[in-house]
Amino acid sequence: MTTVKQNLSRGGELPGSDSARLDLEVLLAHLLGRSRTWLYTWPEYELSENEQRQFDDLLIRRAAGEPVAHLTGEREFWSLSLQVDASTLIPRPDTELLVETALALCPATPQRVLDLGTGTGAIALALASERPAWQLLAAEKSPRALALAERNRSNLGLDNVRIVESDWFAQIPPQTFDLIVSNPPYIDAADPHLDEGDVRFEPRSALVAGREGLADIEVIAAAAIDYLAPGGWLIVEHGWQQAPAVRVIFEDAGLVSIESRKDYGDRERLTLGRRQC
Ligand SMILES: C[S@@+](CC[C@H](N)C(=O)[O-])C[C@H]1O[C@@H](n2cnc3c(N)ncnc32)[C@H](O)[C@@H]1O
Repeated sequence: MTTVKQNLSRGGELPGSDSARLDLEVLLAHLLGRSRTWLYTWPEYELSENEQRQFDDLLIRRAAGEPVAHLTGEREFWSLSLQVDASTLIPRPDTELLVETALALCPATPQRVLDLGTGTGAIALALASERPAWQLLAAEKSPRALALAERNRSNLGLDNVRIVESDWFAQIPPQTFDLIVSNPPYIDAADPHLDEGDVRFEPRSALVAGREGLADIEVIAAAAIDYLAPGGWLIVEHGWQQAPAVRVIFEDAGLVSIESRKDYGDRERLTLGRRQC
């Protein structure tokens, strides 16, 4: 029989991970249905044969590169526990900057908000949880991701979000929003990072866009102007080297008050602009 403590010392079996200890803790806590704190309270707990076999399997899959979030089926975003699967992006902490920016920009009074490419529903659900008076529409092209977002919405009981299938704006009936947000695909197909780490297990449709990663942002910005209320905001996440190009795209789309915001690493990771009042 092997104890919790012995299993947590198996970091050497995950040489490719830069967070081996954390991976072990998250996977073991998930398998045992306990918190990570519990592992430290009960280091001498002995895993049953069945638990040990399952944990060994998880370590083999993790060592082969599978993301921890795919192995546990969940990821926390904005303190919300979201189900994840291989149909879309695993929500990233970076995207919390977009949520923070949106919350700071718009009043808590009723607002009509659109989240394009919602994936797990991360952005829309985070905004809905913070602003019960807002009405959110979350659009997604992938039917599997759409079903995942709907499961997350239902599990969190957030009734102020409606999830719909749409290819960007194509299936959104004419109407106006006070705020449109999106974390669209923005990686260039030739980017070597696509062959590293978790992204190898995420769909290209959630990551890659043409025209050096800018094609989807161009489509969104060009169409957004017709869907924004006067004074309404568009906020888009993008790569840290894309901000100057995205500002030009926003200008060409007719948006005003354009600026990019930096993350905690001092890198410009999102751009916002509004429709003239
Ligand atoms: C980078 S992921 C972002 C997912 C989620 N919003 C987040 O921040 O974690 C981009 C999402 O856009 C979706 N997508 C890609 N092309 C789309 C399109 N033409 N119309 C709508 N959604 C699209 C992908 O399926 C994916 O879920």
